[in-house]
Amino acid sequence: MIARGLLTPETKTVMAAPTFPQYKHNGIIEGCEIAEIPLVNGAHDLDGMAAAIDDRTTVVWLCSPNNPTGVYITEEELTAFMARVPSHVLVVLDEAYFEYVNAEDYHDSLRLLKQYQNLIILRTFSKIYGLASFRVGYGIAHEETISALEPVREPFNVNSLAQAAAMAALDDQNFVEECKIENQAGLEQFYQFCDSAGLSYYPSQGNFILIDFKRDGQEVFQYLLERGYIIRSGTALGFPTCVRITIGSKEQNQGIIDVIKQFLSVNSVITN
Ligand SMILES: Cc1ncc(COP(=O)(O)O)c(C=O)c1O
Repeated sequence: MIARGLLTPETKTVMAAPTFPQYKHNGIIEGCEIAEIPLVNGAHDLDGMAAAIDDRTTVVWLCSPNNPTGVYITEEELTAFMARVPSHVLVVLDEAYFEYVNAEDYHDSLRLLKQYQNLIILRTFSKIYGLASFRVGYGIAHEETISALEPVREPFNVNSLAQAAAMAALDDQNFVEECKIENQAGLEQFYQFCDSAGLSYYPSQGNFILIDFKRDGQEVFQYLLERGYIIRSGTALGFPTCVRITIGSKEQNQGIIDVIKQFLSVNSVITN
């Protein structure tokens, strides 16, 4: 809706790279100019992104924690960035994974929203709430922003069943807390394994971990696929030597780790 409402062939949009691919995908559909600013150590280069904004820029996309690296933007970084963005530019802050975040210096976007009219926060029921197939999420923004997007909203775009599911899910915060704790334990399980196996990774605030095998990630993907585990090859994510693994239960994580150990025992991997 944001791309449809605010991007045209006369405008420009700014985003990180690699990041969640839908920002670029929708920018291409609208025919606008797309500025992709490379990540630095898995994090948004906010200085580079601010410098890329010009008079034609209408939308800037921030993904925190970023998919696929899991790296987040701090409160201090976001505050400084917002101060640099002209008021005609809408900053889209995609917080799809925010319920998993444990970092104490993660941004308080609702506080920033009080200060900035040109911010919209996106959240979803697809991740920690586990309701991806209901296609329900929400945006938090000032009335003027929402009114500007309203003309491109499809009628009844979130069906009543999905709304009921979302409301019920919101009432079950124990489930959210349990998932958050289990996710953190799973991340630590993977960190420990990677440290012992000499594999590098980005510390993640999401429900996934990007691990660098320093060889074609497609091979690792294929090896795991043949043994019953579907992960994401980094090839399509802009990290060709990596794979992205979604954190599961302790047993599922261990199952993947055991298969990776097998893979490492039969394949040479340059570690550091
Ligand atoms: C950063 C990010 N935003 C949004 C989404 C999609 O959310 P939804 O299912 O609500 O469209 C994803 C899903 O992979 C994501 O990684």
